[in-house]
Amino acid sequence: MEKEVFILAIESSCDDTSVAISCNDKILANITANQKIHEQYGGVVPELASRDHQRNIIPVIDAALKKANINLEQLNAIAFTNGPGLMGSLLVGASVAKSLAWSLNIPLIEVNHMQGHILAHFIKENTETKVPQFPMLCLTVSGGHTQIVKLKSHFDIEVLGETTDDAVGEAFDKAAKIVGLPYPGGPLIDKHAKDGNPEKFKFNDSKMDGYNYSFSGIKTSFLYFIQNNLQKDKDFVSNNLNDICASYQNHLVKILLKKLVLAATESGIKEIAIAGGVSANSELRKQISEQAIKNNWNLFIPAFEYCTDNAAMIAITGYFKFLKEEFTNLATAPNVRMKL
Ligand code: KG4
Ligand code: ZN
Repeated sequence: MEKEVFILAIESSCDDTSVAISCNDKILANITANQKIHEQYGGVVPELASRDHQRNIIPVIDAALKKANINLEQLNAIAFTNGPGLMGSLLVGASVAKSLAWSLNIPLIEVNHMQGHILAHFIKENTETKVPQFPMLCLTVSGGHTQIVKLKSHFDIEVLGETTDDAVGEAFDKAAKIVGLPYPGGPLIDKHAKDGNPEKFKFNDSKMDGYNYSFSGIKTSFLYFIQNNLQKDKDFVSNNLNDICASYQNHLVKILLKKLVLAATESGIKEIAIAGGVSANSELRKQISEQAIKNNWNLFIPAFEYCTDNAAMIAITGYFKFLKEEFTNLATAPNVRMKL
């Protein structure tokens, strides 16, 4: 029988404190404390995020161990997000992970947050769960990243294209702020878009070479679009909110998919996945599913709980690193701009 490896994983790169317990490639617990405090500021305030992580981390660890019905002595390793992310936030998870690994005298495993988002597709919910085959392409879309990556293995990851400025999650969140929706605005744009007309308003496309993206011009043109219309009708936003959200969301999704389809066609790869917070977007999930049928892709869309930040994805990545004995030492420090 396969040896059972129990890992406790910590994710604290931004504003969610999450702890997971895994047994090999299965998740026994995945508990996340979200931080509400940032809503009133229209974005994540790093110092407040760090303080909330400090408050939340121990109760979340306790809750995860309890849910998994595991005690600390049974753990084989501690995995944690060591970047990219906010320094103050990463430091909390890293410090607690190091303390646990040191006191329990078990290996410490550092994980790249973006690799975690991608490898979440390898979590086995049950014996029937299908996981991607290599080579695969993954569109990783979050609040800080927008990339098309090619994987030849869990660890051989090549970035084929990426945003040259803002991430698509920022394009959602900043547009939401412009129309008066609280942070994080992405899910709210998604919600309002459900009752709107995606073809009502048109926005300018951005011209980028190859598989790269650019979202900062799109966000600025959205701002001017709103300002111009408000001059003509002061109730323009409230009268058209659903149509504005649906049209803008449709525009962003079309841009994302155009480059992904191009990369899939040119590489001939048919194992296609999406990952990261924006992969929770219902229009992206719908349009990518249509593309999958059209192009004969084997498509992998994460379960909602593995789209936004979670420690389960850190646990599965930690498990693959454990098998390779890729451990780190206590001197490691978070890297806010860690690359894939
Ligand atoms: O991966 P994630 O949880 O954190 C980062 O690593 O950045 O992604 C957060 C981003 C935010 O920009 C949020 O607005 C966006 O994901 N997001 C969505 C949706 N759910 C989360 N954007 C559009 N539609 C959604 N349903
Ligand atoms: Zn993330």
